[in-house]
Amino acid sequence: MPPDEKGMCTLPTFANRRRRSVRAALGALALVSATGVMVSAAHGATPAGPSIEVSATAPTAAQIAHGGQLARTCAACHGLDGNATSAQFPKLAQQGQSYIARELMRFKAAPGKKPKRVNAIMNGIAMALSPQDMRDLAAYYSRQPIKPAMASNAKWAKVGMQIWRGGIANRQVPACAACHGPGGLGMPPQYPRLAGQWAAYIEAQLHAFRTGTRGDFTPMHDITSRMSDRQIRDVSDFVAGLR
Ligand code: HEC
Ligand code: HEC
Repeated sequence: MPPDEKGMCTLPTFANRRRRSVRAALGALALVSATGVMVSAAHGATPAGPSIEVSATAPTAAQIAHGGQLARTCAACHGLDGNATSAQFPKLAQQGQSYIARELMRFKAAPGKKPKRVNAIMNGIAMALSPQDMRDLAAYYSRQPIKPAMASNAKWAKVGMQIWRGGIANRQVPACAACHGPGGLGMPPQYPRLAGQWAAYIEAQLHAFRTGTRGDFTPMHDITSRMSDRQIRDVSDFVAGLR
């Protein structure tokens, strides 16, 4: 699945390819820029020469590289390539670009205000990041391949799969797949990828949505308010094994 996002970048070689092709595409993009062809739609110019369409928000190779540099300061917890090795820390690899940027903005408090998403560690870290840093980090992580995780318990995962695919009818819980995609790959820009994420992290977030400790209102608050601890555990275990 492309670590790329619909609408963020319409460079044809970005879609439906894996990292190597993305690299190749970036190389091509850098080359085009170096030869002086305008690739930025922000200037309203129609690119001459090779037919390349790049949206105003598509990151440049330099921005992605900058994100990779900044990511060193995150590596202790999230892994250099966004594959956190401890289940305490979410994997960021192959997560949706706009989702990552949006969450970083939510972690950063406006002057005199409480951050929208409260987490002692991330609130401190986000303070030091500019909006452009956040976009560059997001561009970088979204292009790293995720290392899959596994479900830990066949019984839990089986119940979890039913919730994932069909929801919980008698509690009016919708199918997770409806928003996060059948394979959990997410639907950019709104719905984050969940496939391959640590079960423990997913479970912790579902509890945080339910108690309201996580963020401003999203559909997740409503959904989790009707889920039991056990249902949360089961669906989290299933999600980890999705790939
Ligand atoms: C000391 C450990 C630590 C460091 C360093 C750290 N993070 Fe985090 N990060 C966390 C934890 C813990 C969470 C989970 C927060 C929660 O439960 O809401 C998190 C969550 C996130 C999320 C939300 C992921 C999601 O799926 O919603 C993003 C994005 C993120 N971090 C980006 C970064 C970036 C970028 C950096 C470096 C500039 C960074 N983090 C550095 C510990 C860390
Ligand atoms: C109506 C659409 C919708 C449905 C259905 C839905 N979600 Fe979500 N989910 C969202 C949105 C939107 C977010 C992003 C919330 C945010 O940014 O705070 C999200 C975020 C999450 C996150 C946080 C991911 C992260 O990286 O921190 C988890 C975990 C999650 N959903 C699990 C589930 C599960 C499990 C189900 C099924 C029981 C489900 N979702 C059903 C819309 C939905």
